[in-house]
Amino acid sequence: MISPAIVNLIYLLSATLFIMGLKGLSHPKSAVRGNLLGAIGMFLAVIVTLVDKQIITYDLIIIGILTGSIIGTVFALTIKMTAMPQMVGLFNGLGGGASLLVAGAVLLEAALLQKGPGLQFTIATCASGLIGAVTLTGSFIAFGKLQGLVTEKPVRYKGEQIVKVLLLLASIYVSVLIVLNPHITMYYWILTGIAGLLGIFLVLAIGGADMPIVIALLNSYSGLAAAATGFVLSNYVLIIAGSLVGASGIILTKIMCKAMNRSLANVLFGGVGAVLEKADESDIYEGKITSTSAEEVAMLLESSRKVAFVPGYGMAVAHAQGMVRALSEELEKNGVEVSFGIHPVAGRMPGHMNVLLAEENVPYDKLLELDIINPRFKDMDVVIVLGANDVVNPVARKENNPISGMPILNVDQAGTVIVIKRSLSPGFAGISNPLFAADNTLMFFGDGRAKMEELVKAYKEL
Ligand code: TAP
Repeated sequence: MISPAIVNLIYLLSATLFIMGLKGLSHPKSAVRGNLLGAIGMFLAVIVTLVDKQIITYDLIIIGILTGSIIGTVFALTIKMTAMPQMVGLFNGLGGGASLLVAGAVLLEAALLQKGPGLQFTIATCASGLIGAVTLTGSFIAFGKLQGLVTEKPVRYKGEQIVKVLLLLASIYVSVLIVLNPHITMYYWILTGIAGLLGIFLVLAIGGADMPIVIALLNSYSGLAAAATGFVLSNYVLIIAGSLVGASGIILTKIMCKAMNRSLANVLFGGVGAVLEKADESDIYEGKITSTSAEEVAMLLESSRKVAFVPGYGMAVAHAQGMVRALSEELEKNGVEVSFGIHPVAGRMPGHMNVLLAEENVPYDKLLELDIINPRFKDMDVVIVLGANDVVNPVARKENNPISGMPILNVDQAGTVIVIKRSLSPGFAGISNPLFAADNTLMFFGDGRAKMEELVKAYKEL
C-alpha cells in the first residue's frame, strides 16, 4: 500500500501525460510522441492502481491482462487499415461494457457487505450502467453495419422516436428505483438491459454516410461511462481520463457534423440516408463516359501549371499513396504547383487521408481542407481524383439523397478531371455519381496503384 498522497501525485502525472498526449495527437508530426505519452500515462495509472488497492488475488487480473493482450495484439496485427472504423467502434463498445461491469460489481459489493452507499455513488452507478450499455450495444450494431453484418441502411419505421423515448424514460425510472433501493442489484441489470435496447434502436436508425458521426459519438459516450465509473470508485484518474475521452469525442462529433453539414439531432433522429436515390444508372452514364489512358493523362499533365490530387477510400484500398507522392514530385520538378484536396470524411476514418499521405512524407502544408481548396479548383488545369467518390459527388448539392447538403470538393470546376477507379460502382453512400459523366471528366479505369504506376512511368517518358 502506498500513501494516498503519492497515489494522487502519480494520478496527476498520468492525467498530465494524457493531456500532453492529446495535444500531440492534434498534429501528424507529433502524433506518435503523443500516443506514446498517453500510453506511458495509462501504464503509470494501471501500475499505481494495482499496487494501491488491496487486491486479494492477482490470478484473475493476470489472466485478464494476458487474454486481453493476446486478443489486442492479434487484432492490431491482422486488422486491415480499411477496417479501422469498425475496429474503433468495437473498442468503444468494450470500453462502455467494462465501465458498466465495474460499476455493477461495486454495487454488488456494497449490497453484499450491506453498506449504505451515498447518493453520489448510486447516481454515478446508474449513469455508468445507462451510458455504458448504450455504448456497448450501439457500438456492436455500428460494428455490424460497417462490417456488412447488419443492414447499412437506416432502419426506419412508424413510431420509432416514441419507442426510443419510452426506452429512455424506462431507463430513468429504473435508475430512480436503484437510487431508492441500492441493495436490490437486480434493478441494475434491468437498467442495463433497457439501455442496451436503447443503444440498438438508436444506432439501427442511422446509416449511410452518417456512420462516422455515430462512431465519434459512441467514442464520446464510452468516455462518459468511464468518467461515471470513476465517480463510483472515487478514482480521480478515471474521472479525468473519461472526461478527456468524452470531451474529445464530442469535439470530433461536432467537426464531423460540420463536415457533413448535419446537426447532431438530425443525425440521431432525422434518418438522413434513408431516402435512396432511384435514378437509373444507365440514364446517368450511358454514352457519356470517356475513358482515357496513361499516355493521354501524362500529356495533359505536361501542359498543366496547377494540379491537385483528391484522394479517397480507393487510394487506401489500393495502397496508392506512395505513387501519388512519386507523381507529385515529378510534377514539381517540372515547376507544376501541386496541392492535395482533403475532405474531412474521405476514406473510412477521421484523418485517414492525412495519415496515409503523411506516412509518405507529403508536406502537411500541401494538404488543403475544403474551405481552402474549393475556391482554387476553378484555376486548376487538372484534378486527379484517386479512389474518391462520395466526397466529389455533385449530387450532394441536390435534395433527397443520402449525401444531400454534405459539402463536397468542387473538382467539377477544374479544367479536366481524371477519375481513377476500377469501375462505375458507387462509393459508401451507394449512389451514382454524375461527375463521371461530365464533359470535362476522363475516366482512367483500373486499380489505383497500378494506374498511378502507369501514369508515373508515362509522365517520366515524355
Ligand atoms: P467512397 O465514396 O467510399 O468511394 C471509394 C471509391 O474507391 C469507390 O467508388 C471504389 O470504386 C474506389 N475504389 C475501391 N478500391 C479501389 C482500388 N483498388 N483502386 C481504385 N479505386 C478503388 O470514398 P470517399 O469518396 O473517400 O468517401 C468516403 C465515404 O465513406 C463517405 O460517404 C463517408 O461518409 C463514408 N465514411 C467515412 C468515414 C470517415 S470518418 N472518413 C467513416 C465511415 C464512412 P470502384 O469499386 O469502381 O473501384
